[in-house]
This record gives sequence, structure tokens and C-alpha cells, in this order.
Amino acid sequence: MCGIVGYIGHRKAQDILVEGLKRLEYRGYDSAGVCAVADGALVTAKCPGRIANLEERLAEVPAIGQATLGIAHTRWATHGSPTEANAHPHLSDDGRIALVHNGIIENYLPLKQWLQSKGRTFASQTDSEVLSNLIAEFYASSGDFVEAVRTALHEVTGTYGIAVLCRDEPDRIVAARRGSPLIVGIGQDEYIIASDASAIVAHTANVVYLHDNEMAVIDGDQMRTITIDNVPTTREVELIEYSLEEIALDGFDHFMLKEIFEQPQSIRDCLRGRLNMRESRVQLGGIESVARELVKTRRFIFTACGTAWHAGLIGEFLFEDLARIPAETEYASEFRYRNPIIEDGTAVIAISQSGETADTLAALREARDKGALALGIVNAVGSTIARETDAGVYLHAGPEIGVASTKAFTCQVAVETMLALYLGRRKFMSQEIMTRFMEALAAIPGQIETVLAQSDMIRDVVSRVADRENWLFLGRGYNYPVALEGALKLKEISYIHAEGLPAAEMKHGPIALIHKGMPVVFIAPRCGVYDKIISNIEEVRARGGYVIAVATEGNKEIRRYADAVFYVPDCPQALQPLLTVIPLQLLAYQAAVLRGCNVDKPRNLAKSVTVE
Ligand code: G6P
Repeated sequence: MCGIVGYIGHRKAQDILVEGLKRLEYRGYDSAGVCAVADGALVTAKCPGRIANLEERLAEVPAIGQATLGIAHTRWATHGSPTEANAHPHLSDDGRIALVHNGIIENYLPLKQWLQSKGRTFASQTDSEVLSNLIAEFYASSGDFVEAVRTALHEVTGTYGIAVLCRDEPDRIVAARRGSPLIVGIGQDEYIIASDASAIVAHTANVVYLHDNEMAVIDGDQMRTITIDNVPTTREVELIEYSLEEIALDGFDHFMLKEIFEQPQSIRDCLRGRLNMRESRVQLGGIESVARELVKTRRFIFTACGTAWHAGLIGEFLFEDLARIPAETEYASEFRYRNPIIEDGTAVIAISQSGETADTLAALREARDKGALALGIVNAVGSTIARETDAGVYLHAGPEIGVASTKAFTCQVAVETMLALYLGRRKFMSQEIMTRFMEALAAIPGQIETVLAQSDMIRDVVSRVADRENWLFLGRGYNYPVALEGALKLKEISYIHAEGLPAAEMKHGPIALIHKGMPVVFIAPRCGVYDKIISNIEEVRARGGYVIAVATEGNKEIRRYADAVFYVPDCPQALQPLLTVIPLQLLAYQAAVLRGCNVDKPRNLAKSVTVE
């Protein structure tokens, strides 16, 4: 979603800001802009479209190129369409304050009316411009920039990550956050502010994560942090855990493809040190502090959005099957608003790649306020969700840049599997069965490699049907959420309409859609209901559908029913999603490439959705 970069130091700000914006491109955006103080004025360059357009615009504003301090932004439209006027940075009407903002100012309308009654004028439709004028209004009366930002933030409801410049204080940047991530990178006599570590990592690994309701005031080569109530705070300098190489394409055409192919390694990293084969034990350091409470937990609720929600659905199966504990999965956006019942002995597990998804964070807070044990399955180390949980397990999947989540999904499922085994073993699972599962889990990365080897064949199959506009994905049991995920992947990046369903539900309505040549993907590995799935395949074939099956290696019989088959190695049913999802990721990727879509920057999507 929106991205912020700010720079204050001894180098040309523009280079660092633009490079930072490029690193944030993957998050999704539709306009961009830069502002710097030059010759006693706040000078901006902004435009709709890509960073490349912004670079052309910057060439026309040489004053910005000389500045050693500036702020920049990529905007993902919420209030108002992606126009130049709505792009950030937003200047106050008197030209004294410039601001970039992530998040949403919920009470922007009453604030706007109040400011208009004071004679302030507005050039955009955004909520963010209200905040720049509000700061300017307080600055006009106090003459104190930091105080003006502080006072304005007290008037605001909603969420923000901001970086602010003042024309009259050209050596200072003020940054603040509430509900929208903001990080300050500390380099050699320079500071880089960003909403995402990837914009900082090329310059320094030392960062300070701002907390909610906290401000950073950076003057030349010094920084102090205070709360918005003006209480000084002390923040530890932390290390960003990943390097520039990890966010490079490495010869792949797209980050999504790179990340699909990284999955054997990302799962190995995720499992590393956690499967104690000798003692037949799963060791998860992040939950040790709540181990006793966990074993006594009577009900688990997974809450998440998008792909992470699909991982939650698989978690539900895993917890009930392997640990025999009731579990359910809720859309975070629904859970938070429906006054959920949280009884004693309930644990809520928030699943999130970014750790910053606004709805997931709000659901987690709701559950915690109601007394649930709050746990997280998160990829981004130090993210808000990771910090706000009582305990949790990191994915260690490395940075995921492709907007369509792939390696984070499989690592989320791997972590859920380990958690279910951890609980199952403590409750009733025999050492023998536990060992068998752990060995099967450890074998998954190697098995994924054999699925990836079918990439070219999958492309050939997809090329026969990539022009079809409606697809169905059908699976049962553990593979029902995989069907949902396969359909979502295809929608997200190739803009094909696709639906995922439990296979047996097809006959209760969706079968009306089947017509000659319509692609229907059956996830049909060896399982207890395999014969029933074959009957469903027959029903589709009878109506002329084009059947693609994902089946267990060695199953030759299925070729009689399906037009194309992608094979996955055999494994326990509980682990099948880790394998069956791989050909569907490749299928979606190949369809998007064949249709000429921008795989890593799909239209309208954002990598991390930090607004409700
Ligand atoms: C966005 C992304 C999805 C992702 C979802 C949840 O919608 O486009 O790929 O699954 O957010 O993100 P999270 O970071 O919480 O896993």
C-alpha cells in the first residue's frame, strides 16, 4: 500500500528518496511524489503513474536535486482518484508545511470544515491534506513546529504514519506513527525514514521501530523520540535481518516466480532448529513462555485476511485433526466487528505475512481485550502484530516482494503444522506417529522441488486455456482451502474470474456454469474421498469442461478422466496442501505472463493493506 521515504543527511536526498520509492513499488501504488526545502521554499514534484514518470518530472525541478533533506511517497488511492493533486506530499495552503501520510484520518471531514471556517483552502480530495493544514494552523499560532505536529495528532482519529517538513525549519524532519508502520534507519550522519525496511536496507541495517503514538524529531545529525504527550522515550537500535541480495530478482523474470522457486529453501529455513528428531519433539522458542497456557487452551481461532486466511483454514483442519482441539477461522475484518465470544481458554492466532494488515491487527486487539491469549504467525520481524501478541512463531521465509503471496503461505502452513504437532504430542499423540509426521514434514522441501520441475509442462497446459475468462477450482478436506487459494492466485495476477469450492458443493449450483471448454481444476491427490472426486470430475466432463487435475505421483488412472494432470509426491494427507498448492501457484503465474499482466504489480492490489 502507500509508502513513505524520508532522508536527512549529507547526501543528495533525491537519489535516496527515488531509490527508496522504487524499493517500495511492490507494495502497490498509483501516484508518487517528492518534496524538499530549496531556496527557502517547499518544492514538490508529483504525478500519477509510475516512479519513472516521477523521475521525468523531477528532471524539470532541479532545485529538489540539490537538497540534502526531503520526503517522498507512493500513494494507493483511498480518498480521491490517483491524480497529481491527490498525490503526496501535501502542502498546507500557506506553503509552510509539507507532509506524506500513510493510513486514514477518519475525522477528516469535521477537521476540514473547521479549517475552512478559519479560511484554509484545499487543493485535493484527500484526508492527508487536512492533516498538513491542521499542523499549519497550529504552527501559525505557536510558531513551534514539533508542538504543532503534536497538537494536530491529538485532534486526529484514525491511523497514520507521517513524515513532515516545515519551510521555516529546513534542517528538521518530524515523523510519527499510529497504526501505520514507520522505521528510522540510522546511517553514518544520516537518517532514512521509511514505512518498510526494504527502502532502508541498501543504506544501513540499524533501525529504530517507532511505536504507536510516538514521534521522532530529527535535527541534522541527531534524533530524539517522544510520545505525542511529549514524554521522552528510549528506543533500542535493532538490526534489519535481511540483506539487499534477498530483495533482488536473481535472474528470475518476476519476484513471484523467484519466491515460488524459493519455497524448498524458505520451508527449510522455517523448519530449521524446530524439529528435534532425536527426542521426537517440536521446539518453538517463541511460544515457550505460554506453553502451559497453550496446552490448556480449549479453542483456537485463526484470524487473517486474503491468502493468510486460507492458511488459517488449513490450520483449522490441522489443529482438529492432529491435536483434536476445536479450531475455527475468521476473516479479521468480520471478526472485529461482530462482538466475538471469547470464553476462558480461547487463544486467537493472527496470521500475517507483513504483520501490519490493519484488519488483522484490529481483530487481534479485539480478542486480546476480551481476554484471549493472543498469538501470532508472522513473517516480518518486529512488525506491529508480532509486537502486540503474547507469543508467536516467526516464518523466517525472508522478505516476500511479489504482491501475490506464495512462500509466506507455505511457511504459514508449515508453522501451523508444527504447532498442531506440538500440541498433539503433549496431549495424546504417540512418539511413533509424531516421528512419522516430523519426518514427512522434513521431506516436504525436497518434494516441492520435484513439483517445481514440472514448471514448463504447466506452462504448456496453461497456454491451451489461458484465454478462458472463468475457472473453477475444486478440492475437498485439506485441499478445499487450497482450491480457494488457487482461485485467488489466478484472480489476483491474471484478472481471470475464478472461484474455489469444496468439490461436492459444485452440484448445488455452480455446475450450472460448466460449459464446453471451461477450465476446472480438481485438487485430487490420494485421500479418503478420492472416488467421490472422480465422480465430480465425470460430472464436469459430461458437460464439456476442460479438466486439470492435481494428483498423486503414480496415479495413471486419472489421465483417463482429466485433460491434463500435474503430479505431486505422496505424503500424509495433513501435509498435502504444502505440495498441492505449488502447481496452482505456477498455473496462476504462467496464465498472468501469457496474458501480458504485470505479475509483481497487479492492478489495484497492495502487498500490505494498512487501511480498513
Ligand atoms: C493483501 C495482499 C494479500 C495478503 C493479504 C494479507 O491483500 O495482497 O496477498 O494475503 O493482504 O496480508 P498479510 O500481510 O496480513 O499476510
